[in-house]
Amino acid sequence: MAFSSFSLDLSKLPKHVAIIMDGNGRWAKKHGFPRFYGHKKGAETAKKVIEKTYELRIPYLTLFAFSKENWKRPKKEVETILELFKVSLAKEKHFLIEKGIRLKVIGDRKDFSEDLVDLIEEIEEETRHNSKLTLCLALSYGGRAEILKAVKDISTKVKQGLLDPETIDEKVFREHLYTQDIPDPDLLIRTSGEERLSNFLLFQIAYTELYFTSVYWPEFTEEEYLKALYSYQKRERRFGGVHEF
Ligand code: IPE
Ligand code: IPE
Ligand code: MG
Repeated sequence: MAFSSFSLDLSKLPKHVAIIMDGNGRWAKKHGFPRFYGHKKGAETAKKVIEKTYELRIPYLTLFAFSKENWKRPKKEVETILELFKVSLAKEKHFLIEKGIRLKVIGDRKDFSEDLVDLIEEIEEETRHNSKLTLCLALSYGGRAEILKAVKDISTKVKQGLLDPETIDEKVFREHLYTQDIPDPDLLIRTSGEERLSNFLLFQIAYTELYFTSVYWPEFTEEEYLKALYSYQKRERRFGGVHEF
């Protein structure tokens, strides 16, 4: 079956799609290219997915681009990926502004060079009032690190007498996560055939629908994206309740 936007019920789209963009290296290897070329093609796929998300009026898109654990990779690969972030962000700044897209970067930004942090903060500042789409980029992000950071920040406030432990509920806890003002993902897509979370949004995906595809990220076409959205529309979400027949 060929998928097009017409196959979809536009009134039943997820509000927040999160994607683990995996398989750049294997795609490159399969085609006889160096791993870096896979990341470059992957960045092109990300741009197309952002455009499609915008076109479908899905208001939140989170892309896992670099994990806290990815620092373990060879220095050369890490450097080329970081350079690619810098070049892509500088290049796409005007696209984001022009389209009304808000950029939000989640993760441990103290791991990055000052010039990359400056560029991120400049774009975040210039796009902060945009509301058509929030593009959340997870860079040097780890779900466990995020939860630990929240626990530390909350403990500090308690110690300083700024917070009563009795008032710590889910809402207060969420306010201390990187994702603060972003709703939980409705749909999580992972490419490349791996069926694991790799430390992504551990707190936030408690009731997220999961979609795995064996397609490598550089070959994740618009049709593949629509297939994932179509699969989401067939799911019945219950959140622990009972379905009314
Ligand atoms: C995802 O592709 C991109 C990053 C993790 C930065 P990979 O680089 O993990 O590609 P594979 O999994 O080795 O094929
Ligand atoms: C997850 O992919 C991180 C990103 C896509 C940025 P990895 O390639 O790092 O995950 P593992 O190592 O296969 O679990
Ligand atoms: Mg991988």
